[in-house]
Amino acid sequence: MTTVRHAPPAVPRPAFDAERVRRDFPLLQNTVRGKPLVYLDNAATSQKPRAVIARTEQYYATENANVHRGVYELSERATAAYEEAREKARGFLNAASAREIVFVRGTTEAINLVASSFGRRELQPGDEVLITAMEHHSNIVPWQLICGERGAMLRVVPMNKRGELLMDEFARLLGPKTKLVAVAHVSNSLGTINPIAEIVQQAHARDVPVLVDGAQAAPHQPIDVRGLGVDFYTVSGHKMFGPTGIGLLYGTAERLEALPPYQGGGDMIKTVTFAKTTYADPPARFEAGTPNIAGAVGLGAAIDYLQALDWEAIRTHEADLLAYATDRLSSVSGVELVGTAAHKASVVSFTVQGVHAHDVGTIVDQEGVAIRTGHHCTQPVMDFFGVPATARASFAFYNTRADVDALVSAVRKVAQVFA
Ligand SMILES: Cc1ncc(COP(=O)(O)O)c(C=O)c1O
Repeated sequence: MTTVRHAPPAVPRPAFDAERVRRDFPLLQNTVRGKPLVYLDNAATSQKPRAVIARTEQYYATENANVHRGVYELSERATAAYEEAREKARGFLNAASAREIVFVRGTTEAINLVASSFGRRELQPGDEVLITAMEHHSNIVPWQLICGERGAMLRVVPMNKRGELLMDEFARLLGPKTKLVAVAHVSNSLGTINPIAEIVQQAHARDVPVLVDGAQAAPHQPIDVRGLGVDFYTVSGHKMFGPTGIGLLYGTAERLEALPPYQGGGDMIKTVTFAKTTYADPPARFEAGTPNIAGAVGLGAAIDYLQALDWEAIRTHEADLLAYATDRLSSVSGVELVGTAAHKASVVSFTVQGVHAHDVGTIVDQEGVAIRTGHHCTQPVMDFFGVPATARASFAFYNTRADVDALVSAVRKVAQVFA
């Protein structure tokens, strides 16, 4: 007898239950100005789940000691917790080895580290570093500083009016003098998701390493540094539901081994005499001094929390929030969206005709809605779009359509106040 196998009936995937995950975030239960808080400034920093707060407290209550130093049990416990967090970070980024994960303060420090260490070793007068027109100041200024020191040049890949990189220009600018490409995975002020795999492929075809600023990508999607093929990748813990003051620099083992230290001090050496010091292998080489142990442990808890979520469902949920917010905000008279790339994360920047962005922010705050206003540390982006500032709503998986409705109704009030 032939058995006919029928595919099981398609069971619709349950929609992401944002209301349920919101309950994991104590701060979201607060009121501000007598209204329920609507927190839409996630690109600046994210709120923390109870698991992260509890783990940090537990660390201080039961494990606190310095790491890598004591022979006593408490120090061993602290070291184990710190190194476990490194292993969790390895898993989150899909790095090949925990030795490729350096704990830093955040993306800013990670980029400064690479700019300084890579730049001192690799940049010669006339060499070029290639960045893009939509970089955060922290992926511009460190390169300007090191280029200035080394006599190298900063080159900038332009974008179009939707906020998408001109890839033809990228190919044209990527030349024999290019020593490194540094690019944001996701733009914080426009939301654009850049074609990292394509950028890496073209750069590597010319033996040029690529650093990716992943500060705005990690809160929205699992990262696969090996899949992307990047040489360096940076994240900030506080933007991905972890503590402030902790972040990650991923570098391939080969790249990190080739770099000189960034800072000198305890814990980054093999031997020290007054005549000569030899340095520890990565990642210790780049972690001078007592690190942010509790921060690393808290970030590990954030990673555990994120890894238990359904990212396919989150992708759909955030895409829905983006589409809904884009549609509803565009319907408000006087609102102009800034950044309309085909591939976007859930970030919506906008202006309201005749109203300064700060006034927009102040009025919507009266309604309990927290958004960011200003240049978002991307002044060249503001210059390109010819605006002094924008208002920006940036969504996380715990936001809902009701949050968008609250924002839109508050923005309508702005238009009324200034009518
Ligand atoms: C794209 C991008 N890069 C870098 C940074 C700097 O991150 P941090 O301040 O956590 O170092 C930010 C912060 O807003 C960002 O959005």
